[in-house]
Amino acid sequence: MSKTFNRRDFLKRSAVVAAGALPLSTIEIAFGKNNPQNFTFAYISDSHITHIKGNKFVRNWDRGLIRAVAETNLMDPKPDFVFYGGDIAQLGKPEEIDHGLEILSGLSPKVHYVMGEHDYYVDLGEYWRKQLGPDHYSFDHKGVHFVVLNSILTHEKWMHKKWPSGMDRMKQMARLDNPNGQPFMVGDAQRKWLKNDLAKVSKDTPVVVFSHSPIQKIYKGWNFWTDDAEQVQALLKPFNKVTVIYGHVHQIQYNQIGNISFHSAMATAWPWPYPKTYVQKASYMPKLTVEMNRADPFFERDATGWQFINMDTGNVDMHYVLPENQNRVVAFDKKAGHPVDRDFQDSAKRIPPQKHF
Ligand SMILES: [Fe+2]
Ligand SMILES: [Fe+2]
Repeated sequence: MSKTFNRRDFLKRSAVVAAGALPLSTIEIAFGKNNPQNFTFAYISDSHITHIKGNKFVRNWDRGLIRAVAETNLMDPKPDFVFYGGDIAQLGKPEEIDHGLEILSGLSPKVHYVMGEHDYYVDLGEYWRKQLGPDHYSFDHKGVHFVVLNSILTHEKWMHKKWPSGMDRMKQMARLDNPNGQPFMVGDAQRKWLKNDLAKVSKDTPVVVFSHSPIQKIYKGWNFWTDDAEQVQALLKPFNKVTVIYGHVHQIQYNQIGNISFHSAMATAWPWPYPKTYVQKASYMPKLTVEMNRADPFFERDATGWQFINMDTGNVDMHYVLPENQNRVVAFDKKAGHPVDRDFQDSAKRIPPQKHF
Protein backbone atom coordinates (compact mmCIF):
# COMPACT_ATOMS: atom_id res chain seq x y z
CA MET A 1 0.00 0.00 0.00
CA SER A 2 1.50 3.33 -0.98
CA LYS A 3 -0.26 5.37 1.69
CA THR A 4 0.94 5.09 5.27
CA PHE A 5 -1.22 5.67 8.30
CA ASN A 6 -1.06 5.15 11.98
CA ARG A 7 -3.58 3.58 14.27
CA ARG A 8 -4.93 6.88 15.54
CA ASP A 9 -5.67 8.03 11.99
CA PHE A 10 -7.24 4.71 11.26
CA LEU A 11 -9.43 4.87 14.34
CA LYS A 12 -10.45 8.40 13.48
CA ARG A 13 -11.45 7.39 9.98
CA SER A 14 -13.15 4.29 11.24
CA ALA A 15 -15.17 6.33 13.69
CA VAL A 16 -16.58 8.25 10.77
CA VAL A 17 -17.39 5.12 8.87
CA ALA A 18 -18.80 3.49 12.00
CA ALA A 19 -21.50 6.06 12.54
CA GLY A 20 -24.12 3.42 11.81
CA ALA A 21 -24.28 -0.28 12.46
CA LEU A 22 -22.07 -1.70 9.78
CA PRO A 23 -22.15 -5.40 9.16
CA LEU A 24 -18.56 -5.87 8.15
CA SER A 25 -15.09 -5.88 9.61
CA THR A 26 -11.94 -4.09 8.71
CA ILE A 27 -8.70 -5.55 9.76
CA GLU A 28 -5.51 -3.60 10.24
CA ILE A 29 -2.22 -5.33 10.13
CA ALA A 30 0.47 -2.92 11.14
CA PHE A 31 4.18 -3.53 11.49
CA GLY A 32 4.87 -0.35 13.42
CA LYS A 33 3.92 3.28 13.21
CA ASN A 34 3.93 4.61 9.65
CA ASN A 35 5.44 1.42 8.31
CA PRO A 36 4.61 1.14 4.59
CA GLN A 37 3.95 -2.57 5.17
CA ASN A 38 0.81 -1.67 7.17
CA PHE A 39 -2.42 -2.63 5.53
CA THR A 40 -6.07 -3.27 6.19
CA PHE A 41 -8.58 -5.73 4.92
CA ALA A 42 -12.32 -5.93 5.36
CA TYR A 43 -14.32 -8.93 6.52
CA ILE A 44 -17.93 -9.69 5.62
CA SER A 45 -19.68 -12.92 6.59
CA ASP A 46 -22.83 -15.02 6.78
CA SER A 47 -25.30 -13.27 4.49
CA HIS A 48 -27.61 -16.30 4.07
CA ILE A 49 -29.17 -14.96 0.89
CA THR A 50 -32.55 -16.71 0.80
CA HIS A 51 -34.45 -17.42 -2.39
CA ILE A 52 -38.25 -17.25 -2.18
CA LYS A 53 -39.25 -17.83 -5.80
CA GLY A 54 -38.62 -16.33 -9.21
CA ASN A 55 -36.55 -13.21 -8.63
CA LYS A 56 -37.74 -12.78 -5.02
CA PHE A 57 -35.29 -13.03 -2.13
CA VAL A 58 -35.66 -12.36 1.60
CA ARG A 59 -35.14 -8.64 1.72
CA ASN A 60 -33.52 -8.25 5.15
CA TRP A 61 -30.67 -10.58 4.32
CA ASP A 62 -30.13 -8.85 0.95
CA ARG A 63 -29.99 -5.52 2.70
CA GLY A 64 -27.37 -6.59 5.24
CA LEU A 65 -25.02 -7.61 2.45
CA ILE A 66 -25.79 -4.60 0.23
CA ARG A 67 -24.95 -2.30 3.11
CA ALA A 68 -21.71 -4.11 3.89
CA VAL A 69 -20.60 -3.79 0.25
CA ALA A 70 -21.47 -0.08 0.17
CA GLU A 71 -19.63 0.65 3.42
CA THR A 72 -16.56 -1.30 2.34
CA ASN A 73 -16.28 0.74 -0.84
CA LEU A 74 -16.37 3.94 1.23
CA MET A 75 -13.60 2.93 3.60
CA ASP A 76 -10.54 5.07 4.03
CA PRO A 77 -7.92 3.72 4.01
CA LYS A 78 -9.11 1.36 1.32
CA PRO A 79 -8.80 -2.27 2.33
CA ASP A 80 -6.21 -4.25 0.34
CA PHE A 81 -8.75 -7.03 -0.06
CA VAL A 82 -12.02 -8.29 1.34
CA PHE A 83 -12.52 -11.61 3.00
CA TYR A 84 -15.90 -13.30 2.80
CA GLY A 85 -16.45 -15.74 5.70
CA GLY A 86 -18.99 -18.19 4.20
CA ASP A 87 -22.73 -18.92 4.10
CA ILE A 88 -23.47 -16.68 1.13
CA ALA A 89 -26.55 -18.84 0.59
CA GLN A 90 -29.20 -20.20 2.93
CA LEU A 91 -29.87 -23.50 1.16
CA GLY A 92 -26.97 -23.56 -1.31
CA LYS A 93 -29.22 -22.93 -4.32
CA PRO A 94 -27.50 -21.59 -7.45
CA GLU A 95 -30.00 -18.69 -7.40
CA GLU A 96 -28.83 -17.76 -3.90
CA ILE A 97 -25.13 -18.05 -4.66
CA ASP A 98 -25.55 -16.08 -7.90
CA HIS A 99 -27.59 -13.36 -6.21
CA GLY A 100 -25.07 -13.07 -3.36
CA LEU A 101 -22.16 -12.90 -5.80
CA GLU A 102 -23.97 -10.30 -7.85
CA ILE A 103 -24.22 -8.10 -4.75
CA LEU A 104 -20.60 -8.83 -3.80
CA SER A 105 -19.46 -7.98 -7.33
CA GLY A 106 -20.06 -4.34 -6.35
CA LEU A 107 -16.92 -4.48 -4.18
CA SER A 108 -13.93 -2.73 -5.67
CA PRO A 109 -11.20 -4.72 -3.84
CA LYS A 110 -10.49 -8.38 -4.59
CA VAL A 111 -12.53 -10.84 -2.53
CA HIS A 112 -11.29 -14.11 -1.00
CA TYR A 113 -13.93 -16.67 -0.06
CA VAL A 114 -14.39 -19.48 2.43
CA MET A 115 -17.04 -22.19 2.10
CA GLY A 116 -19.93 -22.30 4.61
CA GLU A 117 -22.13 -25.32 5.28
CA HIS A 118 -25.10 -23.48 3.78
CA ASP A 119 -23.14 -23.16 0.53
CA TYR A 120 -22.10 -26.80 0.56
CA TYR A 121 -24.56 -29.48 1.57
CA VAL A 122 -27.06 -29.34 -1.27
CA ASP A 123 -24.50 -30.35 -3.96
CA LEU A 124 -21.33 -30.84 -1.88
CA GLY A 125 -19.99 -27.48 -2.98
CA GLU A 126 -20.10 -28.12 -6.70
CA TYR A 127 -21.80 -24.87 -7.75
CA TRP A 128 -19.82 -22.77 -5.27
CA ARG A 129 -16.52 -24.18 -6.57
CA LYS A 130 -17.61 -23.68 -10.18
CA GLN A 131 -18.16 -19.99 -9.44
CA LEU A 132 -15.34 -19.35 -6.98
CA GLY A 133 -12.62 -21.97 -7.38
CA PRO A 134 -10.86 -24.09 -4.75
CA ASP A 135 -12.30 -24.27 -1.22
CA HIS A 136 -8.90 -24.30 0.49
CA TYR A 137 -5.83 -22.28 -0.43
CA SER A 138 -3.23 -19.94 0.97
CA PHE A 139 -1.63 -16.67 -0.01
CA ASP A 140 0.97 -14.26 1.31
CA HIS A 141 0.34 -10.60 1.68
CA LYS A 142 2.87 -8.07 2.96
CA GLY A 143 4.59 -10.45 5.35
CA VAL A 144 1.52 -12.32 6.62
CA HIS A 145 0.66 -15.88 5.61
CA PHE A 146 -3.10 -16.33 5.12
CA VAL A 147 -4.64 -19.79 5.02
CA VAL A 148 -8.22 -20.58 4.00
CA LEU A 149 -9.71 -23.90 5.09
CA ASN A 150 -12.96 -25.65 4.32
CA SER A 151 -13.84 -26.68 7.88
CA ILE A 152 -17.44 -27.79 7.30
CA LEU A 153 -16.83 -31.22 5.79
CA THR A 154 -18.13 -34.33 7.51
CA HIS A 155 -18.03 -38.13 7.24
CA GLU A 156 -18.30 -39.47 3.67
CA LYS A 157 -20.84 -42.03 4.73
CA TRP A 158 -23.24 -39.42 6.07
CA MET A 159 -22.79 -37.20 3.03
CA HIS A 160 -23.31 -39.81 0.36
CA LYS A 161 -25.57 -42.55 1.61
CA LYS A 162 -28.16 -41.28 3.98
CA TRP A 163 -30.42 -38.79 2.21
CA PRO A 164 -32.88 -39.10 -0.68
CA SER A 165 -31.79 -35.75 -2.15
CA GLY A 166 -29.16 -33.07 -1.73
CA MET A 167 -31.79 -30.68 -0.42
CA ASP A 168 -32.79 -33.17 2.31
CA ARG A 169 -29.15 -33.33 3.32
CA MET A 170 -28.86 -29.54 3.26
CA LYS A 171 -31.90 -29.10 5.48
CA GLN A 172 -30.48 -31.49 8.07
CA MET A 173 -27.30 -29.42 8.30
CA ALA A 174 -29.21 -26.14 8.40
CA ARG A 175 -30.88 -27.01 11.72
CA LEU A 176 -29.66 -26.49 15.26
CA ASP A 177 -29.95 -29.20 17.92
CA ASN A 178 -30.56 -31.79 15.25
CA PRO A 179 -29.65 -35.35 16.28
CA ASN A 180 -29.50 -36.28 12.56
CA GLY A 181 -26.75 -33.74 11.91
CA GLN A 182 -23.04 -34.43 11.94
CA PRO A 183 -20.06 -32.59 13.39
CA PHE A 184 -17.95 -30.53 10.98
CA MET A 185 -14.34 -31.35 10.23
CA VAL A 186 -11.39 -30.23 8.13
CA GLY A 187 -10.54 -33.83 7.26
CA ASP A 188 -7.40 -35.85 6.55
CA ALA A 189 -6.72 -34.62 3.01
CA GLN A 190 -6.89 -30.95 3.89
CA ARG A 191 -4.82 -31.39 7.04
CA LYS A 192 -2.14 -33.05 4.93
CA TRP A 193 -2.32 -30.13 2.51
CA LEU A 194 -2.05 -27.68 5.44
CA LYS A 195 0.99 -29.44 6.82
CA ASN A 196 2.77 -29.13 3.45
CA ASP A 197 1.65 -25.54 3.03
CA LEU A 198 2.96 -24.50 6.45
CA ALA A 199 6.27 -26.29 5.91
CA LYS A 200 7.30 -23.40 3.63
CA VAL A 201 6.51 -20.70 6.20
CA SER A 202 9.04 -19.40 8.76
CA LYS A 203 7.98 -19.76 12.38
CA ASP A 204 8.06 -16.01 13.05
CA THR A 205 5.73 -15.14 10.15
CA PRO A 206 2.29 -14.12 11.47
CA VAL A 207 -0.23 -16.73 10.35
CA VAL A 208 -3.92 -15.92 9.96
CA VAL A 209 -6.30 -18.82 9.33
CA PHE A 210 -9.80 -18.28 7.97
CA SER A 211 -12.36 -20.98 8.50
CA HIS A 212 -16.12 -21.03 8.56
CA SER A 213 -16.67 -23.08 11.72
CA PRO A 214 -14.44 -22.36 14.72
CA ILE A 215 -11.27 -24.51 14.74
CA GLN A 216 -12.10 -25.26 18.36
CA LYS A 217 -14.87 -27.07 20.20
CA ILE A 218 -17.46 -24.72 21.63
CA TYR A 219 -20.93 -26.25 21.38
CA LYS A 220 -21.60 -29.45 19.51
CA GLY A 221 -25.39 -29.24 19.37
CA TRP A 222 -25.17 -26.14 17.22
CA ASN A 223 -22.06 -27.22 15.35
CA PHE A 224 -20.06 -24.40 16.87
CA TRP A 225 -17.50 -27.14 16.61
CA THR A 226 -14.82 -28.70 14.41
CA ASP A 227 -14.27 -32.36 15.20
CA ASP A 228 -10.58 -32.49 14.28
CA ALA A 229 -9.84 -29.06 15.80
CA GLU A 230 -7.00 -30.37 17.98
CA GLN A 231 -5.24 -31.89 14.99
CA VAL A 232 -5.41 -28.61 13.07
CA GLN A 233 -4.27 -26.70 16.15
CA ALA A 234 -1.27 -29.05 16.44
CA LEU A 235 -0.17 -28.07 12.92
CA LEU A 236 -0.33 -24.39 13.90
CA LYS A 237 1.49 -24.87 17.19
CA PRO A 238 5.06 -24.24 15.99
CA PHE A 239 4.27 -20.67 14.89
CA ASN A 240 4.80 -17.70 17.17
CA LYS A 241 1.72 -15.70 16.22
CA VAL A 242 -1.38 -17.45 15.01
CA THR A 243 -4.92 -16.13 14.75
CA VAL A 244 -8.00 -18.01 13.59
CA ILE A 245 -10.88 -15.83 12.40
CA TYR A 246 -14.18 -17.53 11.68
CA GLY A 247 -17.80 -16.81 10.81
CA HIS A 248 -20.69 -19.25 11.28
CA VAL A 249 -21.54 -18.44 14.89
CA HIS A 250 -23.18 -15.07 14.18
CA GLN A 251 -22.03 -13.66 17.50
CA ILE A 252 -19.01 -12.40 19.39
CA GLN A 253 -16.69 -15.15 20.59
CA TYR A 254 -13.04 -15.22 21.53
CA ASN A 255 -10.66 -17.70 23.03
CA GLN A 256 -7.01 -18.60 23.44
CA ILE A 257 -5.65 -22.12 23.08
CA GLY A 258 -1.89 -22.27 23.50
CA ASN A 259 -0.35 -19.96 20.90
CA ILE A 260 -3.59 -19.55 18.94
CA SER A 261 -6.03 -16.66 19.40
CA PHE A 262 -9.55 -17.20 18.15
CA HIS A 263 -12.00 -14.50 17.11
CA SER A 264 -15.37 -14.69 15.45
CA ALA A 265 -16.86 -12.14 13.06
CA MET A 266 -20.49 -11.16 13.08
CA ALA A 267 -23.08 -11.93 10.42
CA THR A 268 -24.79 -9.57 8.01
CA ALA A 269 -27.99 -11.66 8.27
CA TRP A 270 -29.06 -12.46 11.84
CA PRO A 271 -27.44 -13.13 15.23
CA TRP A 272 -27.56 -16.41 17.10
CA PRO A 273 -28.12 -16.25 20.84
CA TYR A 274 -25.49 -17.68 23.14
CA PRO A 275 -26.15 -21.36 23.81
CA LYS A 276 -26.99 -22.00 27.46
CA THR A 277 -24.04 -24.33 27.73
CA TYR A 278 -21.71 -21.35 27.68
CA VAL A 279 -22.58 -20.35 31.20
CA GLN A 280 -21.75 -23.82 32.48
CA LYS A 281 -18.20 -23.68 31.25
CA ALA A 282 -15.15 -21.78 32.37
CA SER A 283 -14.08 -20.11 29.16
CA TYR A 284 -13.06 -16.81 27.71
CA MET A 285 -16.39 -16.32 26.04
CA PRO A 286 -18.13 -13.04 26.71
CA LYS A 287 -20.08 -13.15 29.93
CA LEU A 288 -23.41 -12.82 28.14
CA THR A 289 -22.79 -9.13 28.54
CA VAL A 290 -25.22 -7.88 25.98
CA GLU A 291 -26.93 -11.18 25.38
CA MET A 292 -26.44 -10.09 21.79
CA ASN A 293 -29.20 -7.60 22.64
CA ARG A 294 -31.23 -9.55 20.19
CA ALA A 295 -34.51 -10.01 21.95
CA ASP A 296 -36.22 -7.69 19.53
CA PRO A 297 -37.30 -9.55 16.38
CA PHE A 298 -38.70 -6.35 14.88
CA PHE A 299 -35.33 -4.65 14.70
CA GLU A 300 -33.80 -6.15 11.61
CA ARG A 301 -30.19 -5.33 12.42
CA ASP A 302 -30.45 -6.34 16.06
CA ALA A 303 -27.09 -7.69 17.22
CA THR A 304 -25.60 -7.95 13.80
CA GLY A 305 -22.58 -5.80 13.73
CA TRP A 306 -19.36 -4.45 12.44
CA GLN A 307 -15.84 -4.87 13.65
CA PHE A 308 -12.37 -3.83 12.71
CA ILE A 309 -9.28 -5.64 13.80
CA ASN A 310 -5.80 -4.40 14.68
CA MET A 311 -2.88 -6.77 14.38
CA ASP A 312 0.00 -4.46 15.07
CA THR A 313 1.62 -6.82 17.56
CA GLY A 314 0.78 -9.90 15.53
CA ASN A 315 -2.16 -10.53 17.87
CA VAL A 316 -5.67 -9.49 17.07
CA ASP A 317 -7.56 -6.67 18.76
CA MET A 318 -11.17 -6.97 17.68
CA HIS A 319 -13.24 -3.78 17.80
CA TYR A 320 -16.96 -4.50 17.69
CA VAL A 321 -19.45 -1.84 16.80
CA LEU A 322 -22.97 -2.90 17.76
CA PRO A 323 -26.15 -1.11 16.79
CA GLU A 324 -28.04 0.55 19.63
CA ASN A 325 -25.43 -0.68 22.04
CA GLN A 326 -22.07 0.10 23.57
CA ASN A 327 -19.06 -0.73 21.47
CA ARG A 328 -16.78 -3.46 22.72
CA VAL A 329 -13.10 -4.25 22.32
CA VAL A 330 -11.80 -7.79 22.69
CA ALA A 331 -8.03 -7.52 22.76
CA PHE A 332 -5.10 -9.79 23.50
CA ASP A 333 -3.97 -9.20 27.08
CA LYS A 334 -0.27 -10.00 27.40
CA LYS A 335 -0.42 -10.53 31.14
CA ALA A 336 -3.44 -12.82 30.98
CA GLY A 337 -2.13 -14.53 27.84
CA HIS A 338 -5.51 -14.56 26.15
CA PRO A 339 -8.06 -12.18 24.65
CA VAL A 340 -10.03 -10.10 27.14
CA ASP A 341 -13.22 -8.14 26.69
CA ARG A 342 -11.75 -4.86 27.93
CA ASP A 343 -14.85 -3.34 29.45
CA PHE A 344 -17.16 -6.27 30.04
CA GLN A 345 -15.02 -9.27 31.01
CA ASP A 346 -16.09 -8.70 34.59
CA SER A 347 -19.64 -9.98 34.90
CA ALA A 348 -20.46 -7.16 37.31
CA LYS A 349 -20.28 -4.83 34.32
CA ARG A 350 -22.82 -6.68 32.21
CA ILE A 351 -25.06 -4.51 30.13
CA PRO A 352 -28.71 -5.36 30.58
CA PRO A 353 -30.75 -5.96 27.41
CA GLN A 354 -31.81 -2.71 25.83
CA LYS A 355 -34.99 -1.58 24.16
CA HIS A 356 -35.36 0.09 20.82
CA PHE A 357 -38.74 1.64 21.38
FE1 LIG B 1 -24.16 -18.64 8.99
FE1 LIG C 1 -22.51 -21.62 8.91
